[in-house]
Amino acid sequence: MRRSLIVLLVLVAVIAAACGGSGGGNAGGGSATTVATTAAGGDGGSGGSGGSGDAANGEKLYQGTCVACHGPDAKGITGLGKDLTTSEFAKGLSDEELVAFIETGRPASDPANTTGVDMPPKGGNPSLSDDDLLDIVAYLRTLE
Ligand code: HEC
Repeated sequence: MRRSLIVLLVLVAVIAAACGGSGGGNAGGGSATTVATTAAGGDGGSGGSGGSGDAANGEKLYQGTCVACHGPDAKGITGLGKDLTTSEFAKGLSDEELVAFIETGRPASDPANTTGVDMPPKGGNPSLSDDDLLDIVAYLRTLE
């Protein structure tokens, strides 16, 4: 009898330890949740600040305007727009500088023009706002 009582006590102790262990597991889960929340908060923060554009919206706008010369995958169309996925020029500019570039374009008369073809201001679509252009830039950054 005494023996089985001891065995029982040991079992209880083991179960208690196991519970403690799973409690620790829960605590780990809790901190994982905190990390996920923080990451989501970070995303929300950058989106909310307007510091970076919305790439998904930018893709729609790109496909509505820039696609005509730069192609559906932004790899350029011979005789029209250049490849934007490998553009060292675009990579070398900040998002704001690239928005400013797209606003003004690069006419064939510009000494910096490399193709003899106009890059029209805002890709020829004056209805694009600065925010729209920032979204397009965010989309282009996903391709670089
Ligand atoms: C009518 C045709 C046309 C449209 C529409 C157009 N582009 Fe262009 N784009 C060009 C041409 C041509 C060039 C190359 C100019 C040159 O020879 O330097 C160019 C160059 C660029 C460059 C510089 C690439 C480099 O490496 O020098 C960027 C960035 C760019 N376009 C972005 C855009 C965006 C964003 C849009 C849409 C808002 C757009 N373009 C719409 C014709 C177009």
